[in-house]
Amino acid sequence: MKLENNTQKKIAKYQDVMSVVASLVEGETDEIAKMANVAALLHREFGFWWTGFYRVQNDELVLGPFQGPLACVRIPYGKGVCGTSWAEKRTVVVPDVEMFPGHIACSSESRSEIVVPVTHDGNVVAVLDIDSRELNTFDDIDSRYLEQIAASLDGSERDIWFAAGCFWGAQKFFKKVDGVTFTEVGFANGITENPTYKEVYTDATGHAECVHVRYNPAVISLSELTELYFKIIDPFSLNKQGEDEGTRYRTGIYYHDECEKSIIERIFKRYESSSQKLMVELLPLQCFYKAEEYHQDYLDKNPNGYCHLSPEIFKLAEK
Ligand code: SME
Repeated sequence: MKLENNTQKKIAKYQDVMSVVASLVEGETDEIAKMANVAALLHREFGFWWTGFYRVQNDELVLGPFQGPLACVRIPYGKGVCGTSWAEKRTVVVPDVEMFPGHIACSSESRSEIVVPVTHDGNVVAVLDIDSRELNTFDDIDSRYLEQIAASLDGSERDIWFAAGCFWGAQKFFKKVDGVTFTEVGFANGITENPTYKEVYTDATGHAECVHVRYNPAVISLSELTELYFKIIDPFSLNKQGEDEGTRYRTGIYYHDECEKSIIERIFKRYESSSQKLMVELLPLQCFYKAEEYHQDYLDKNPNGYCHLSPEIFKLAEK
């Protein structure tokens, strides 16, 4: 019970922090200024031991805005927790720094640590590093909110592609999600160029029906979008969603930023623990071709048109 309360409190605090971050980054173009305020905000709200950024400068990380005790200035690529996060393009959670080979001890008081990559156009441009004086401070909740903060920093929208069976219903669903700014339906990761709906329908093109979702990461995170995605699919069904059958109706999430893979994988893992095999692809987006105009916003144009999703499911899109 106590644990649950602490979890709820932490989530509530991060949600408050997220709304401040959204206002801090909106319209501001100076990266250092944004990092400085985000470090100050996180440090004050959570009482961490050290909170700050290292920025990628050529082949090393260089100390950026931070709060806390003095820190080492330069970290080589692949070294320490920070350099590992940069090299592996993923969040690194260290429950006990003494157990992390190569951990760089800027302060002997640090006991646990989390490092989250900050990316721009698929490249790591900085890392957000937080140290705690207690062991086991950081978990999946910290990861997902700090990843959301990292994604919000550059102020740009992000893109992700969801194959969820028939794209008519999937587009209607994602359009309703707060923070989603644009959607379009099309065909992804097949072998033919500029396919028509008719061609894809034959299942000979290798394409999957797919919704391209653009979103504002300061409002909705990739983790939340992935969780919503899992609510509208049967993740254990191969090439069949509802009554729609064929490889074109396979399920998959396609990304174009390698850093996004580990964020999505964390949600996948929750389903993988089940006894059934997960049938959802997680792959880089190889290609996406917009479908014909009559497929775009199909269910807005045809409110009584076919939809494999139940009417209740759409309520889940509205937070
Ligand atoms: N411990 C980090 C170095 C930075 S300090 O924690 C501020 C690391 O191993 O990369």
